[in-house]
Amino acid sequence: MADAAGLLRGAGARFREAGLDTPDLDARLLLAECLGLEPGILAANAHVLVPDEAQARFAQWVDRRLAREPVYRIVGRRPFYEHDFLLSPGTLEPRSDTEILVDAARRELDAVLRRRRAARFCDIGTGTGAIAVSLLALFPAATGIAVDISDDALATAGENARRAGVADRLALRRSDYLAGVDGPLELVLSNPPYIPSSQIASLAPEVRGHDPRLALDGGPDGLDAYRAIAAQAPRVLTEDGALLLEIGAGQGPDVRAIVCEGHRFVFEGATRDLGGIERVLRFRRVSRA
Ligand SMILES: C[S@@+](CC[C@H](N)C(=O)[O-])C[C@H]1O[C@@H](n2cnc3c(N)ncnc32)[C@H](O)[C@@H]1O
Repeated sequence: MADAAGLLRGAGARFREAGLDTPDLDARLLLAECLGLEPGILAANAHVLVPDEAQARFAQWVDRRLAREPVYRIVGRRPFYEHDFLLSPGTLEPRSDTEILVDAARRELDAVLRRRRAARFCDIGTGTGAIAVSLLALFPAATGIAVDISDDALATAGENARRAGVADRLALRRSDYLAGVDGPLELVLSNPPYIPSSQIASLAPEVRGHDPRLALDGGPDGLDAYRAIAAQAPRVLTEDGALLLEIGAGQGPDVRAIVCEGHRFVFEGATRDLGGIERVLRFRRVSRA
């Protein structure tokens, strides 16, 4: 039996040579999963011996990582906010930037539930269900609708909701954005596909090879989803309902213009990510005079 430290050193060196961004972390996450340990526990106990079966699986996973399959795709699930989310071929791997959207929605639902006994929201393009499930776990008085155009994503979101114990408060709906959704809703939120079609081929191999195109492709200028959501959301939102949108780098001015055109929404503010990039925009529904 080899010890963990040696295996980690070997895999880390191969990952570094292959130009991976976080070679030692990737090695630790994969070996920890093979051993059924938390990565932090493995880091503190690198002398543990690795049984042959775990070592064989680790060797296969190292090869998959060298072929640019993302760590969490190999493991099959990814931590997000306070839960682990199962991944499937039809789901985007949830990103930590999207936790900013959950934080913004959390403030919104908190305010709604101080005024009312219940709140209802819709998460458009739910993928793994990471956003909707995280919110339902935080707010037992909330109910949600999780929309996606992908049946595979909806099945995975349903399983993730069941694992988190919130499935009874989440309705799964196959719909083209909000076309099949009825109000009234206090909150609509989305991390929609927002990469311009022409940029997809130049994304990192981990992204273009493993995240589904449906989850990435925002049309010629990356803004198709925002146009659809801005047109549909007034119909389902309450008069003072909120619309929260995650955006790509530099898309703020265009998305503000799209949503506020027609005077059905006012822009209330943006939240930036740790890199200082505008990541989430908050709009408020206003009734037409
Ligand atoms: C960027 S991913 C977001 C996934 C998840 N909400 C997250 O943040 O990790 C966008 C999601 O929108 C879905 N989608 C794409 N086009 C759609 C449409 N026309 N109507 C509904 N959902 C759509 C994709 O299948 C994908 O799950």
